[in-house]
Amino acid sequence: MLVEVFNDYEEMSRRAARHVAAAIRQKPDLVLGLATGSTPVGLYRELVRLFRKGELDFSRVTTFNLDEYYGLSASHEQSYHYFMQEHLFRHVNVALERIHIPDGQATDIQAECARYEQLLAEAGWVDLQILGIGGNGHIGFNEPGTDFGASTHLIELAPATIQANARFFKSPEDVPRRAISMGIKTIMRSREIILLASGRDKAEAIRAAIEGPVTNQVPASVLQLHPNVRVMIDQAAAALLSHGGQGQTHAMTV
Ligand code: GLP
Repeated sequence: MLVEVFNDYEEMSRRAARHVAAAIRQKPDLVLGLATGSTPVGLYRELVRLFRKGELDFSRVTTFNLDEYYGLSASHEQSYHYFMQEHLFRHVNVALERIHIPDGQATDIQAECARYEQLLAEAGWVDLQILGIGGNGHIGFNEPGTDFGASTHLIELAPATIQANARFFKSPEDVPRRAISMGIKTIMRSREIILLASGRDKAEAIRAAIEGPVTNQVPASVLQLHPNVRVMIDQAAAALLSHGGQGQTHAMTV
C-alpha cells in the first residue's frame, strides 16, 4: 500500500487526476471505477480541465460507478446518476453506452445486482477504481459489518451515513435508507485502487483503514489485502497516522 500525503485538497485532487489521466493515456479503453461524494469532486474538475485542454480523451473509456441510492430516479438531484452528469460526464466525451451506474429504481433488485456484476465481468472488471471513504470506514456503501465476500448488493445505510449524507438533502428523513453498491469482493477485483480522503473528519477512518486490523467493522481495512492500492490524502486526513501527516508532501509504503 502506497500512502501519499499532500498539503491540501487541491494538490491531492490534481495529483489523483494526473494519475488517472496517465492510466487513460496508457490504456485508452480503460475500465474506470468511479466514486461519488464530495471528496472526488476536485479530481473530476481537474479531469474536465485536462479534457478541455485537449490532453485527455474519454471516447474509449468504460465507467462503472460504485453505488446508487435505492429509490431515487436518475434525474433526482441527489442521485449519483445526477452527480456524475454534473461533475464529469456532461463535460467530457465518455460514450453514453459505456457509462454504468446501478439502477436505483430497479424493481427486481436481485436481477439488477446480477446484471451489474455481469456487465463488470464482461468488461473484464475494473482497471482503476477511485474510492472515497465514509467517516465510519465504509467504501462504496459497504457499511461496517459488511461481508467481504459480497458482490453487488442492496445495503441498509448505517445511521452515521444517513446523518453524514443528510447535508445534501432537505432533511435527514429525505436520505434514502438503502442503496445498491458494488460489494467488497467486486471492488477487490479491481487491478488498481486509489483511495482518496481529505479533512480531519476522515483522519480516524484513514488510520483504522491503514494501520488498524483488517476487519469488516472497518470495511476500508480490506484494502490492506489488495496488492495495488494508492492512498492519496491530504495532511488533515493523515493526521492520526503513526508516520504522521506533517511537513512536505511525501509518500510512504505501509
Ligand atoms: C458516500 C458514498 C461513498 C463516499 C462516502 C464519503 O456515502 N457512498 O462512496 O466515499 O460517502 O463521502 P464524502 O466524500 O462526501 O465524505
